[in-house]
Amino acid sequence: MKIRKAVIPAAGLGTRVLPASKSVPKEMLPIVDKPAIQYIVEEAVASGIEEILIITNRGKSVMEDHFDRSPELEERLLATNKTDLYEEVIAVSRLANIQYLRQKETKGLGHAVACARTFVGDEPFAVLYGDDVIIGEIPATRQLCEAYEKYGKGVAGVQYVPRDQIWKYCTLAVERLEEKIFSISEMIEKPRDDQFISNYAALGRCVLPPSVFDILDDLPPGANGEIQLTDAMRQLAHQGRMIGVEYDSKRYDMGNKLGILQATVEVGVKHPETGEAFREYLKEFVKTL
Ligand code: UTP
Repeated sequence: MKIRKAVIPAAGLGTRVLPASKSVPKEMLPIVDKPAIQYIVEEAVASGIEEILIITNRGKSVMEDHFDRSPELEERLLATNKTDLYEEVIAVSRLANIQYLRQKETKGLGHAVACARTFVGDEPFAVLYGDDVIIGEIPATRQLCEAYEKYGKGVAGVQYVPRDQIWKYCTLAVERLEEKIFSISEMIEKPRDDQFISNYAALGRCVLPPSVFDILDDLPPGANGEIQLTDAMRQLAHQGRMIGVEYDSKRYDMGNKLGILQATVEVGVKHPETGEAFREYLKEFVKTL
């Protein structure tokens, strides 16, 4: 079954990037010239997604403005013959069919996804975490959707994480099915050291069957007192209904300060407008370190 719908949870408090995230949602922090959420919407569209629901919160309406028309700005750009910029601004508002829904209480990623039940209905759907920008030749979400279509099971995006970092994410029990595809039999969110299973963690993207909503509805709070999406996927894993795809792309965590810097540098050196000058600047700058 083709995956047509995607949910982008973007209602978190972003405490790791305070004070910036006090008034600017972390999902709106730019990488060179585009906010994080635009990269994510572009990835969804490039993966064949037709309808997107962004889960927002109080103070996050700038995301809606970003994907809306901007008549005054458009008029000014046209009047001053800035046609390229005009086209670019219009293109953002035409990127996708986007709806918005507020998560009224910040109860965790699992709770944010549960809010999407009516939008999703009775079909499998993709989840793209609003602060994880993933850049690669083949969009990560497309890699996951193809695995869902082939195996008919929930799919978690998987990455190899160094042992000393795994406590921030989750740890998975995996068995290889193909070079980049695993079956998952166990997943533990924010594992303590004695709960470590493997260096594989579920990160940034997943494709889930609609049955996950019943699981989410009955889920007690987990790690950090939040309703954890991993705990819902864990139940699917225990039923043999979860696989993982080690996606072939680079992930930037826009929810942490180092991730933002890495994204800016790595996207900046490749950017058609700034790349050359930025590379020259960096070469000189690193000599001073
Ligand atoms: P995070 O756990 O990284 O977001 O959730 P957070 O709670 O904002 O992070 P910190 O720890 O306070 O810095 C991953 C994604 O899920 C969304 C976030 O916006 C982020 O894109 N999220 C998280 C929600 O939509 N609702 C929630 O209740 C929690």
